Amino acid sequence: MFILSSLVISAFLIISTTCFDINNVNKNITVLKKHSYMNLNLVVSIRIQNCSVKIIEEEAFKNVSVLLLEITDNNIKNLTNGSFAEVLFVDLILDRNEIELIEEGTFNNIHPLWKGLLSLQKNNIETIEKGVFNGTDIRILSLDDNQITNIQPGAFEQMHHLRILTLSKNKLRNIGVGIFQNFPGLFSLDLSENHINKIDKLAFEDDKELFLNLENNTISTEVSKWYFENTKIIALFK
Ligand SMILES: *[C@@H]1O[C@H](CO)[C@@H](O)[C@H](O)[C@H]1NC(C)=O
Ligand SMILES: *[C@@H]1O[C@H](CO)[C@@H](O)[C@H](O)[C@H]1NC(C)=O
Ligand SMILES: *[C@@H]1O[C@H](CO)[C@@H](O)[C@H](O)[C@H]1NC(C)=O
Ligand SMILES: *[C@@H]1O[C@H](CO)[C@@H](O)[C@H](O)[C@H]1NC(C)=O
Ligand SMILES: *[C@@H]1O[C@H](CO)[C@@H](O)[C@H](O)[C@H]1NC(C)=O
Ligand SMILES: *[C@@H]1O[C@H](CO)[C@@H](O)[C@H](O)[C@H]1NC(C)=O
Ligand SMILES: *[C@@H]1O[C@H](CO)[C@@H](O)[C@H](O)[C@H]1NC(C)=O
Repeated sequence: MFILSSLVISAFLIISTTCFDINNVNKNITVLKKHSYMNLNLVVSIRIQNCSVKIIEEEAFKNVSVLLLEITDNNIKNLTNGSFAEVLFVDLILDRNEIELIEEGTFNNIHPLWKGLLSLQKNNIETIEKGVFNGTDIRILSLDDNQITNIQPGAFEQMHHLRILTLSKNKLRNIGVGIFQNFPGLFSLDLSENHINKIDKLAFEDDKELFLNLENNTISTEVSKWYFENTKIIALFK
């Protein structure tokens, strides 16, 4: 069913791998089995799109390093600890699945080749549990267009290189303390298009130089750039 086409495109041994079926229509690969992809060094991209993937088995990508790993438009419901064991990537894109559960450990201590992007847009995530991204060494985390109502305090802790966090088009109501605080490197936080009506004055305490997007919520007028304490808000979009 799979054709793995490998193409050496430079002296740097960069290999481009693409996944498609004979008719170039990806369908009904319901399980990405253990060791589906193995021992690939510096592949440009692995794309598994519109394949009906439901389950990614442990070590599906064993000893693989890839610039772009994209598993989009599939039917993955649960991400389990081990799904991304032994794969090194720059960008991991899991948009447009049905992800509702991220098992503890799935993303813990994932070290990309270079600090890139983890994208989980257009899934069905409702809760971001504490510690789920612990040690996930990425620059950009994109959680737009989910069903997020609840972010546990400490959900984004131990993400020392996070610069951009996007949570647009979710269902957040209150922004309390303990979620977005003390991110010395955080540069841009997008909370637009939620149902936010209450924000604690200390919600962004000790964040430095933050671009904060609160567009299209229902926030009271007192919230301005100067409302927040101990935070250097560079720009507030409201
Ligand atoms: C693909 O899966 C769908 C639903 O799971 C099924 O109806 C369809 O027959 C399958 N197609 C192939 C080619 O196996
Ligand atoms: C990992 O894959 C590379 C080829 O990309 C191979 O040379 C190396 O031996 C593999 N390592 C292990 C532990 O299998
Ligand atoms: C995957 O399916 C979606 C929705 O059916 C479609 O919009 C998109 O173009 C498809 N992508 C690919 C790469 O086939
Ligand atoms: C996903 O996880 C839930 C809760 O642990 C479980 O009930 C369900 O069977 C799992 N689904 C799959 C497809 O593994
Ligand atoms: C995830 O799996 C790894 C490897 O099997 C294990 O060391 C780690 O404890 C697991 N993490 C959690 C939170 O279960
Ligand atoms: C995340 O890191 C914190 C601080 O080191 C630790 O207390 C917590 O147990 C970790 N959680 C997970 C799920 O690894
Ligand atoms: C806010 O809503 C307006 C009107 O629906 C829309 O034009 C605009 O793009 C939205 N802004 C953002 C940041 O989503």
